[in-house]
Amino acid sequence: MHYGRLRLQSRYLLSPLAGFTTLPFRRIVRRIGSVGLATTDLVNARALLARSERTMQMVESHPEDRPFAVQIFGSEPSVMADAARLLVELGVDSIDINMGCPVNRIAGAGAGAGLMCSTSSTVSLVQHVVEAVPVPVTVKMRLGWDAHNLTAPFFAREFEQVGIAAVAIHGRTREQGFSGSVSLPGIRAVVQAVQRIPVVGNGDVRNVADAARMLRETGCHAVSIGRAALANPWIFRQLVQWEETGQFAPAGTFDERLELMLCQYQFLAERYGPERAIVLFRKMAHWYLKGMRVRRKLRGDFQSASTITELQTLLDQIRSEGPVDGNRSGILTDAEIPVPKGPNAQW
Ligand SMILES: Cc1cc2nc3c(=O)[nH]c(=O)nc-3n(C[C@H](O)[C@H](O)[C@H](O)COP(=O)(O)O)c2cc1C
Repeated sequence: MHYGRLRLQSRYLLSPLAGFTTLPFRRIVRRIGSVGLATTDLVNARALLARSERTMQMVESHPEDRPFAVQIFGSEPSVMADAARLLVELGVDSIDINMGCPVNRIAGAGAGAGLMCSTSSTVSLVQHVVEAVPVPVTVKMRLGWDAHNLTAPFFAREFEQVGIAAVAIHGRTREQGFSGSVSLPGIRAVVQAVQRIPVVGNGDVRNVADAARMLRETGCHAVSIGRAALANPWIFRQLVQWEETGQFAPAGTFDERLELMLCQYQFLAERYGPERAIVLFRKMAHWYLKGMRVRRKLRGDFQSASTITELQTLLDQIRSEGPVDGNRSGILTDAEIPVPKGPNAQW
């Protein structure tokens, strides 16, 4: 699997999930292995050029987190191109242009999903970015604005002409949000529209069987996985094992998941200090502990812990109690990762 000249270790990629696919999470998924490429949350191209502290944190990486892409959004070709150049100076391996973000502030200003509404200026913006940098540039988009405007095949074909290295398609329309199911024929239409570049299929892949179906029915070259990677960070390794041997090992156990949690917390603590890390870790811990079937009261207590001692005591308790059903080696449930609410629901 290649993005232009960039060779990817596998064709299973981590999809950006704003607020979740942060560097500490990416590092633990990488440690488990077999991730072809991971992408940061979307980053405002202007804020990047202003080198705002928060934005610079979002584009931080680590030697374990390679190859990695930064996803940028914006509507001005020169700003997007300058942001891409800056990212190359910072050492990113690939740049992804967001064409899916529906937030009014962004889409209304012609960026994110708004780019799907204007054709020639969008193709020209993408071309600007491609020509500004030596690294591969990719685009992530939905099938189109709504069922009457399925523009992804058109855009994919145009983008290929201006030198894009790959397109990732979430197989729903913007109007659909996260409702209904992913249209595999819709993704297939994009695969058929391009000549050489890889198409990355995305949406609702929760396990090996879903990925196999996505590959088989769409003919896509790679698959990107978002929510399921949070519920099961072993999914990339399972997919590569399945591809190589036809079989795959089960996802990690309760105790392995606890180890991963601690590891992720440690990465945060190294970067932000132990106490701030507790606050930053709450959101992830909530979903992890739920998936691990930890008793509700303990999960609640974890959310209000604010000191290292409290955290340690709770972790000891969680470790000794195990999951509510007592089955420590049981397969973890598919955690229901919340989809963005309100205007954010159409990534
Ligand atoms: C909480 C959340 C945050 C997301 N953030 C982004 C983002 O920053 N950029 C983007 O292109 N897509 C974003 N998405 C969309 C995902 O990358 C992906 O396309 C979508 O979740 C479908 O894939 P999945 O079913 O494997 O999760 C987000 C989705 C969720 C649920």
